[in-house]
Amino acid sequence: MTEFVPVCRAADLSPGSMTWVAVERERVLLANVAGTFYALSDVCGHLRAPLSRGRLEGYSVECPLHFACFDVRTGALISGPVATDVPTYQVRIEDGTVYVKR
Ligand code: FES
Repeated sequence: MTEFVPVCRAADLSPGSMTWVAVERERVLLANVAGTFYALSDVCGHLRAPLSRGRLEGYSVECPLHFACFDVRTGALISGPVATDVPTYQVRIEDGTVYVKR
């Protein structure tokens, strides 16, 4: 993918919340932390649970299945039963719309 893709209105995702969006048939977790948007794979690297069904606390998202935690800014593993980070995506806000690029 080479282009930014519109995924939602920025006003639809309040600070401290997250959701998932489809980008080229992949699930992407979109998080709003204090007004800044972050995008990363919604698929946990352990047993592929949807991270967007977990908990967002600050910059940390916790997997709902076995509680691995990842940093939404970098996709880096913080803790948990998995050895890999999750991929992140570039985010751009333009005219109130959130765009994601892989
Ligand atoms: S599926 Fe996410 S920690 Fe096991």
